[in-house]
Amino acid sequence: MDYKKLLARAIGEKTGSSSTEIEGWIETPPDPKMGDYAFPCFRLAKTLKKAPPLIANELYSTVKLPDCFSKMQTAGGYLNFFVEPSALARDVLARVFSEGESFASSGEGRGKTVCVEFSSINIAKPFHIGHLSSTVIGNSLSRIYKHLGYNTVRINHLGDWGTQFGKLIVAYQKWGDKETVEKGSIRALLDLYVRFHKEAEENESLNDEARAWFRKIEDNDPAAMELFNWFKELTLKEDGRVYEMLGVEFDSYAGESFYSDKMGAVVDELREKNLLIQDKGAQIVDLAPYDMPPCIILRSDGATLYATRDLAAAIYRKKTYDFYKSLYVVAYQQNLHFRQFFKVLELMGHEWVKDCEHVNFGMVSMEEGTLSSREGKVVFLEEVLNASVEKTLEIMKEKSPDLEDKLTAARQVGVGAVIWGALYNSRIKDIVFSWDKVLNFDGETGPYAQYTYARCCSVLRKAGEFDAGSIDYSALTDTESQALLKAIGALPDTVREAASRNEPYLVSRAVIAICSAFNKFYYENRIMDEDPSVRNARLALTDAVRTAVKTGLYLVGLEAPEQM
Ligand code: ARG
Repeated sequence: MDYKKLLARAIGEKTGSSSTEIEGWIETPPDPKMGDYAFPCFRLAKTLKKAPPLIANELYSTVKLPDCFSKMQTAGGYLNFFVEPSALARDVLARVFSEGESFASSGEGRGKTVCVEFSSINIAKPFHIGHLSSTVIGNSLSRIYKHLGYNTVRINHLGDWGTQFGKLIVAYQKWGDKETVEKGSIRALLDLYVRFHKEAEENESLNDEARAWFRKIEDNDPAAMELFNWFKELTLKEDGRVYEMLGVEFDSYAGESFYSDKMGAVVDELREKNLLIQDKGAQIVDLAPYDMPPCIILRSDGATLYATRDLAAAIYRKKTYDFYKSLYVVAYQQNLHFRQFFKVLELMGHEWVKDCEHVNFGMVSMEEGTLSSREGKVVFLEEVLNASVEKTLEIMKEKSPDLEDKLTAARQVGVGAVIWGALYNSRIKDIVFSWDKVLNFDGETGPYAQYTYARCCSVLRKAGEFDAGSIDYSALTDTESQALLKAIGALPDTVREAASRNEPYLVSRAVIAICSAFNKFYYENRIMDEDPSVRNARLALTDAVRTAVKTGLYLVGLEAPEQM
């Protein structure tokens, strides 16, 4: 299936340019009628000192077309190539059948580690729909890198440090009780937090009490730690349910508090390197030469900041995992923060900061209006997921009354719909979440992709066995089969590109492309044709679709229901 490589080698032989360079120049024509690959000859105009159409003509008569191609054509300054249709069928099916569900995988990442920090929820705060994007983008990227052979470390950088925990302890002691908090969990903690802020408006001294309690947490005071750990436990238990529904796991929950004993070393290093300056009692790194506000390292009372913890975390991750790449899947609201602390790492001389990347994404709002935890209009992600499962169940009762295990399918599809909603567009786009959009079984949605998968399974179930060992590839040379084969064959390159741009939506779109090509194929061709060799070839193609869609769904974090 390495058509580009074969072409690049053939062209390279005649031009003296390296085939890797040529491979990078080869394009896919916008219209398949123009061929499967195109070589833009203007790339060679400078070295060959000739006009592109002339180069195209010369290459046309000299290049030896590799076997799996049927023809080449010149079109102005382009040289277009057509893959031989039955060779395409043979190559695509062979790769899918030999790789199975590891289709589109590779070993390019062998021996390299990618840290993916994602989700990074806050203790005692709701897991809201804003955390959804981070969670599903990060999960998908981790799966994609793993598929490409990288060793991945999935990190949940918990927000578990800061004076708010002092506030929570004060509020709990004054107005809370064990039973209510056990029962209400995050909601009860949130109520306490809101109450604290209300009361503190009247009573300034509450803030001093809160600071004192946070100090105790910093000093590892047993009474303070007991409450702090309890809040953490409650949050993780509740949010664990969401992770389970989403099928998301982590290798590390080392959050902000994990770095509390590692920041001293960072401050020392900054001081040794003459980067710290005093500013109104605070210790800062001046970033004015880089057009940024200063990065505050220590407050005037000696307390560390969010950025200090991120510096410690980055250094720790480099030391511990010796990463090839370290990704931070965090909303674009924090762009400045990341630019600042990356710059500080650079000034410290940590050249590996070039391998750190802020994988940012846009805002998620519900159709009714933007969500915000401060105004108390919080929508918990768990509620959204449950509602989606319920709505899906209703649709299934209507559409597939005979389906046996509706609840399992509704869970897979309902949860999948929500995940897909956050992964179908380029990360940076703001998303307006709407039920009509995510639960549309005919649109370019998760349910549509899952439905196509289930349809393949059903066709194959009804047909019984087919013989993958003797496929008549010439039965797959019609337009629909060829379009479908190309869509499947495109997945490996797409997965690679999704990793290099950290964009899972490329995979979602590739899955949809396969699904819509399959549905066209399905309407235009009778799979259960009278001619046994045609039937066998079409079943083999259907089986390849099944595998490719399952793999694609997995890579974006969706399950593949066999019936729905
Ligand atoms: N907990 C933070 C939030 O919910 C996100 C943490 C991002 N990660 C980081 N390394 N700063 O906004």
